Amino acid sequence: MNRLLCALALTLVASGASAQDNAPKAVGLALTPPMGWNSWNTFACDIDEDLIRETADAMVSSGMRDAGYTYVNIDDCWHGERDENGFIQPDPQRFPSGMKALADYVHSQGLKIGIYSDAGIKTCAGRPGSQGYEYQDALQYARWGIDYLKYDWCNTESRNAPEAYRTMRNALAASGRDIFFSICEWGDNQPWTWGKDIGHMWRTSGDIINCWDCVVSHGNWNSHGVMRIVDMQVERGLRVHAAPGHWNDPDMMEVGNMPTTNEDRAHFAMWAMLHAPLIAGNDVRTMTDATRDILTNEEVIAVDQDPLGVEGFPHKRAGGVEIWFKPLADGEWAMAILNRNDEPEAVTFDWVEEDVEDAFSQNRPHFDQNTYAIRDLFRHADAGTTAQPLAVTVPARDVMMVRLTRP
Ligand code: GLA
Repeated sequence: MNRLLCALALTLVASGASAQDNAPKAVGLALTPPMGWNSWNTFACDIDEDLIRETADAMVSSGMRDAGYTYVNIDDCWHGERDENGFIQPDPQRFPSGMKALADYVHSQGLKIGIYSDAGIKTCAGRPGSQGYEYQDALQYARWGIDYLKYDWCNTESRNAPEAYRTMRNALAASGRDIFFSICEWGDNQPWTWGKDIGHMWRTSGDIINCWDCVVSHGNWNSHGVMRIVDMQVERGLRVHAAPGHWNDPDMMEVGNMPTTNEDRAHFAMWAMLHAPLIAGNDVRTMTDATRDILTNEEVIAVDQDPLGVEGFPHKRAGGVEIWFKPLADGEWAMAILNRNDEPEAVTFDWVEEDVEDAFSQNRPHFDQNTYAIRDLFRHADAGTTAQPLAVTVPARDVMMVRLTRP
């Protein structure tokens, strides 16, 4: 960019900063939780523009785009240095065509593109962070055609979290482009209490890892298996904070990366029951048919994306078997029987005897008065009605997920 343009851009940035100190976040971007893909869980820092292009292609050819996955998100490590005017540049070896060309390509596939930064001086992987450059970075993203920003919380020293995220929200608003804003603060400062007017979703917990129920220590932080993350959503009482426009984010998925297909299925089902963002984290270019079938299961996706926007809740949890319910629009319900154990479990559920109630959303199925038809969402088959008890054997570390509809 020549010096005159640069001076102009900086003037715009500066006036944006003062005129829009309390600019609202972009509206209408998160009426349902976002769906897409992110590079971190499988590739960490080993990313480049070919991976992003090939992933976009695979999202189209696999049917993921048509199933609703929209965002192709580049996580940490895309960064090069700032130029002499302070504008961040991509790593010239890994992204030689530049971010604008990459965004144009992703858009040409009918998809949107996301990027990653951090509220500190450096990102978690030590690349340049946005602290002190918020308005300039937001402007740069907008010029590239970026649609989504994941904003991390490493190296923030004593920064105040709501203030730091509010600054970037204001900067995004001043950029002139509608950019989805994902707060990645890991739940340390309870973002569910302040995030709803700032971002479109907030991480609720530490990083996910592709194991069932493990906790892995990295010194001063832990990563958590999918069952531990499910538990944290319940322990922290988070479901009351989610609603259209702002969602709890239990982290990007490890579907396709879990040790077994059963675990992949249970993980996906529980993210749908939690009304979570569905951000795939596997290598979609090489995924198996089984993984693709799980990720593109439109009946399960419909539960995740249900317009009522209420998260599911555990109705019963005993001996590693959990029965979850989730109220859906039009008086319908989703229900999941989760077997956390290493052995198959025979489960009988007598609907008429059960008093299921969602105290938060005030919904009640009243199985003693109403009969619902049962649809098995992974077998894609009808499975009787709630007039008779349900008797099933759920395989080890697996789930049965159904939708209950009124005749
Ligand atoms: C943090 C985030 C992860 C990922 C890495 C990148 O750990 O929680 O999701 O973005 O940083 O360094």
